[in-house]
Amino acid sequence: MSKSEKANAGKTLNIIKKEIEDHFLNKRQEILDIELNSKLINEKIDISLPVRPVKSGSIHPITKTLDEITSILASMGFEVKEGPHIEDEYNNFTALNISENHPARQDHDTFYLNKKNMLLRTHTSPVQIRVMSQKKLPIKIIAPGATYRCDDDATHSPMFHQVEGLLVDKNANMAQLKSVIKILLEKFFQIENIPVRFRPSYFPFTEPSAEVDIGCSKKNNTLEIGKDEEWLEVLGCGMVNVKVLENCGIDAEKYRGFAFGLGVERFAMLKYGINDLRMFYENDLKWLKNYSFNPNGFPNIIRGLR
Ligand code: PHE
Repeated sequence: MSKSEKANAGKTLNIIKKEIEDHFLNKRQEILDIELNSKLINEKIDISLPVRPVKSGSIHPITKTLDEITSILASMGFEVKEGPHIEDEYNNFTALNISENHPARQDHDTFYLNKKNMLLRTHTSPVQIRVMSQKKLPIKIIAPGATYRCDDDATHSPMFHQVEGLLVDKNANMAQLKSVIKILLEKFFQIENIPVRFRPSYFPFTEPSAEVDIGCSKKNNTLEIGKDEEWLEVLGCGMVNVKVLENCGIDAEKYRGFAFGLGVERFAMLKYGINDLRMFYENDLKWLKNYSFNPNGFPNIIRGLR
């Protein structure tokens, strides 16, 4: 082509090129739109659909009760200590002034292990020995945890739980013990001025010893805590026996102690109206649904401090 022909043809070709490009882009957009619309239609979320049920765990009544008792006593300044479930005879019995032929040793229905002198702890009191033997005074601790006795019927389980309390200080006395127990019972059962009675009793590791009863009524086969009609035993306590202090190398001329021990299952049954001890360990979902607790907003001193 001549120069002027080339200029003309170029113009025309550019117009055609632009037209083809426009067509191409339009078609492309059209296809993308179709694709997007079909996505919008097919992937639409139906917000009116009911949600699938979320299965969440719940807090076992024993855990709940342990946490409640722990947080009440922690608010009074008691520190949580734990001890091993496999103990020796010395910590579980001998150091606690329960000698070889003491009837209490037979009463405890102990699970002995094959290894000499080893057993499953029959109470949380050996933690007292472990803590006192460290001789870091004063002492103000609680020891929550599982305990074991060779016993199995409607009111006894071979594994159960206790909370031990121990305070050792220069001026520890029975009046302090009574007020700690009273506050614990009032706060736990959420009953102000709950009737509390300290009844003289005997434990080899405390002297004097007392069992603590709370007031209740048992009319028409229903138990009501906090009434002033009958007494119900809830825990054991006393001043730490001087022999026990000495067994741990504590100067009993300078230091006094008080201790208490309570059964967690019993506390849980009384507060939450549970009447069959064995159900605690059956893992029966229907029972758990009824008696366990919502984990949300649940105060938890034990796990919270770890
Ligand atoms: N250890 C005792 C029991 O298992 C309870 C107890 C603890 C009593 C501390 C007095 C002092 O029955």
